Amino acid sequence: MTDFQLIKLALEAREMAYTPYSHHKVGAALLCSDGTVFKGCNIENAGYTPTNCAERTAVFKAVSEGKKDFEAIAIVGGMDNLKSLPLCAPCGVCRQVLREFVAPEKFKVLLAEVEDVSNVSTIEETSVKITTMTLSELLPLGFGPENLVL
Ligand code: THU
Repeated sequence: MTDFQLIKLALEAREMAYTPYSHHKVGAALLCSDGTVFKGCNIENAGYTPTNCAERTAVFKAVSEGKKDFEAIAIVGGMDNLKSLPLCAPCGVCRQVLREFVAPEKFKVLLAEVEDVSNVSTIEETSVKITTMTLSELLPLGFGPENLVL
């Protein structure tokens, strides 16, 4: 699985985003160590606070299917009227949810800027700019499961 392939899966996931309130559509593709990929989109709610981010949708899908070893996540996002997507970094809550399951120094977060999302099935590598960060760069000094060991 190349970084670009994972970004393409995130773009596919973004197509499913349910965003009648913010119109901000996000897609994520979470790569497990065994090569499985779980896609996720944001799912909004009239009550606003029950909204689930794309990244957490992907993590919760994976964990609920018995997968907890993750290598990387690709994230794409932007307002639904945009032709090109700006870089969309994960919110603090999603960074913390990822922190639960990964080695922060190793886990890769791929953030893509995409030139034209009018037809995601035909997007080529040259129209995507990928910024790669580790989770520890995005969430320094994070609080994790090891803090709760007796
Ligand atoms: N959103 C995500 O899906 N992921 C993030 O990391 C940032 C925000 C969604 C939540 C909400 O549906 C919309 O973007 C605007 O906040």
